Amino acid sequence: MSAEAMTTTTLLARKQRREPIACLTCYDAAFAQLLERAGVEVLLVGDSLGMVVQGQATTVPVSLEQMVYHSRCVTRVARQSLVIADLPFMSYATPERALESTARLMGEGGAAMVKLEGGAALAETVARLTAFGAPVCAHLGLLPQSIHQLGGYRVQGRDAEMAARIEADALALQAAGASLLVLECVPSALATALAQRLRIPVIGIGAGKGCDGQVLVLHDILGLTPGKAPRFSKNFLADLGAGGFAEDQADGATADQAADRTGAAAHGRPADRTGISIEAAVRAYVAAVKTGTFPAPEHTLA
Ligand code: KIV
Repeated sequence: MSAEAMTTTTLLARKQRREPIACLTCYDAAFAQLLERAGVEVLLVGDSLGMVVQGQATTVPVSLEQMVYHSRCVTRVARQSLVIADLPFMSYATPERALESTARLMGEGGAAMVKLEGGAALAETVARLTAFGAPVCAHLGLLPQSIHQLGGYRVQGRDAEMAARIEADALALQAAGASLLVLECVPSALATALAQRLRIPVIGIGAGKGCDGQVLVLHDILGLTPGKAPRFSKNFLADLGAGGFAEDQADGATADQAADRTGAAAHGRPADRTGISIEAAVRAYVAAVKTGTFPAPEHTLA
């Protein structure tokens, strides 16, 4: 990462200079250090930790206490990246609860911004938080905390009515003071139009390359997610291994030897090839975001 510490101001400058922002989820100190070293600019202590760390079926059971704990683990070592912490399910059910929960995530957890899921109905909450100096990241499109209401992890905003609602929500949240918007699992044309329309940076996850930055779940890019990773994600560690597989065969290794090396890398074990490591995979992700090669068409939803 550049020497510049990331703040809401530098994020805005990135958007204005059209420099894509590289963001990943992060839940502990060891990875915070590694991700920063690899150039990740925004660390999201996402409540996805409920699924990838705790093995829960959804993010709903994650508690505020757990989010404070993981935020603190990350912020204890993060120096330059901006750390965003998710407000978990129901912890912002009223503006008062949102203020109390944010006080804990920022005060005890050390986060520099909080993220909440939902549309214009949360505008008052966003305005109250920002009035007290708490930067807010909004989250629209697929809202994992509402999964029981949505009935499944599906693309949002394909029809004109839903697309118009997402756009109206985004404008209302920006007007209320949100500093950043995460757009999850929406058609890339909608995300691109929103990124162009909004003043604040739009970070996409399954939202195509027209956003101002990208975020993925750390465990997905390393192939560690229990169960199936989403289609819009990419296993960057296996990708390095796949490159190694081709090179191994070119340098005379048998298919079995090459596959063995590739398998070791894909499972996060020390690979016997220089260049295949967790850090190299994260660097490959950052480079792909910065150069616009990720998301590719196969990770893009229409
Ligand atoms: O919790 C999380 O990891 C998130 C990302 C999916 C954006 O909110």
